[in-house]
Order: sequence, then C-alpha cells, then structure tokens
Amino acid sequence: MKVYIGSDHAGYELKEHIKQHFSNGYEWVDMGTNASTSVDYPDFAHPVAQAVAEKADNIGILICGTGNGMAMTANKHQGIRAALCWSKEIAALARQHNNANILVLPARFISPETAFEMIETFFSTPFEGGRHLNRINKINL
Ligand code: RB5
Repeated sequence: MKVYIGSDHAGYELKEHIKQHFSNGYEWVDMGTNASTSVDYPDFAHPVAQAVAEKADNIGILICGTGNGMAMTANKHQGIRAALCWSKEIAALARQHNNANILVLPARFISPETAFEMIETFFSTPFEGGRHLNRINKINL
C-alpha cells in the first residue's frame, strides 16, 4: 500500500518514527520536511493533499504540532477529507463515518505508540457508506 506522508518541523521526528515502525508493508512517499529546521506547514500539506486527491483510493498522513494547520490546509483541496485525530476511536470513526483520506496527527500531544495504533486503525477500517455517504456528499460547496 502506498502512503503519502508529510510534516512540518514539529512533526518531523514523529514522521521518521512512523516510517521506521511501518517499514514493512507500506510504500512511503515522503514529501518532507526532511529536518527539524523551522518550516511552514502549508508547503507540505499542499503536495500531500494534491497527491491524495489524484485517485479515489489514495491515502495520506500529515503531521504538525497541533494538527490544525495541516488539516485546515489539506481540506482546501477538492476531494480531500483530512481528519485531525488523537485517539484510535476517533481515527476509526474518521474512516467509518467521514471516509477520511488523510489522517492528521498532532505530534506535540500524542505519543508515538498512540500514533502507531491510530495508523493501524485508520488503514484497516472501511467506510460505512449509507447515510454517511449522503452526508459527505453535502460537504463540498
Ligand atoms: C509550529 O510551531 C506549529 O505552529 C505547527 O506545527 C502547527 O501546530 C500549526 O498548526
């Protein structure tokens, strides 16, 4: 499975942990950042969102300090449903109810173990469709 991933400086360390932890089984497309030097989160959210939006089954992970900047930026893209999650229950619901295609992680507020659990859950939980499909179809303006 191919996963597009990006972070700013606040999420850089967690991004590297994630790629190392899940080095088997996933093909990581790392869109930066590649150091702990201060950067601007939109410069990494836009390329990941663009790549994920290209195909219906594409999936991505974005990481910054709070997750808010990444989620706000990614959700400007048509076809992107980026969900800021901080527990595996929320990550599951983001897939089941919102058909989220980008998992957004708040690196400064979660442990790497919580992030790993959320990623496993996010990748393995299907969208429920039905009434939730009607709702996500109403998101776009
Ligand atoms: C960087 O200090 C921080 O503002 C950023 O990582 C993120 O939390 C923004 O939403």
